[in-house]
Amino acid sequence: MNIPDIIIAVDGYSSTGKSTFAKLVAEKYSFLYLDSGALYRGVTLYALENGLIDPEGKIDDDGLRAALPSLALDFRPEGTFIGDRCVEKEIRTLEVSSHVSPVSAIPFVRNFVDDRLHAFGLRKRVIMDGRDIGTTVFPEAEIKIFMIATPEVRAQRRFDEMKAKGQDPVFEDVMKNLLERDYIDSHREVSPLSRADDAYVMDNSDMTLHEETVWFQGLCQGKFGILE
Ligand code: DC
Repeated sequence: MNIPDIIIAVDGYSSTGKSTFAKLVAEKYSFLYLDSGALYRGVTLYALENGLIDPEGKIDDDGLRAALPSLALDFRPEGTFIGDRCVEKEIRTLEVSSHVSPVSAIPFVRNFVDDRLHAFGLRKRVIMDGRDIGTTVFPEAEIKIFMIATPEVRAQRRFDEMKAKGQDPVFEDVMKNLLERDYIDSHREVSPLSRADDAYVMDNSDMTLHEETVWFQGLCQGKFGILE
């Protein structure tokens, strides 16, 4: 199936399987996959490692604002980089997860990340996942998908993912972090997580990856009239 050079925005709550789905589509239809959350995680890791978040979780706004212009945060085929250091593993720890929502609620952090995402989007044929891609970053995206799943299914997925990466999470902590992030992400003042009016909702609580692919093909056929 040929899909034209478009931007596909995939938004939704944490651990709804956005990145798995987006990577699959990217692979199958030769799109560039961009994980916008990784950039917020990269900024958060940088802040943690440079003493810009204190032990109580208070963020040094002025320090972070001064540091961002020279923060060399980038996507490479191997993952997310700060300068020449691959931080793909470090940005996925529970420590980063538990500080990323307040960091991503800061307007100047959002501007910093949005500028980078827009630069990538100029290339088209991009599938990007996040919270506000279809509403704020690329409101003109030709396809918008909003993914949902039950909190139990989502917490189990995140738990399994962390285990597979060699971490030793406690299920209750993972669930707590997930619900806290849901709350902050959907209640923040700037660019809160919300479904774009023209987004297609996918509830994948009980869907296999194959079923997700079939769902996406149906959507494209309905939209572009493209058949095999
Ligand atoms: O998708 P993720 O869990 O890796 O995202 C990490 C955090 O980044 C998430 O809690 C909210 C924030 N985020 C955001 O505010 N806007 C985006 N477009 C992507 C992520």
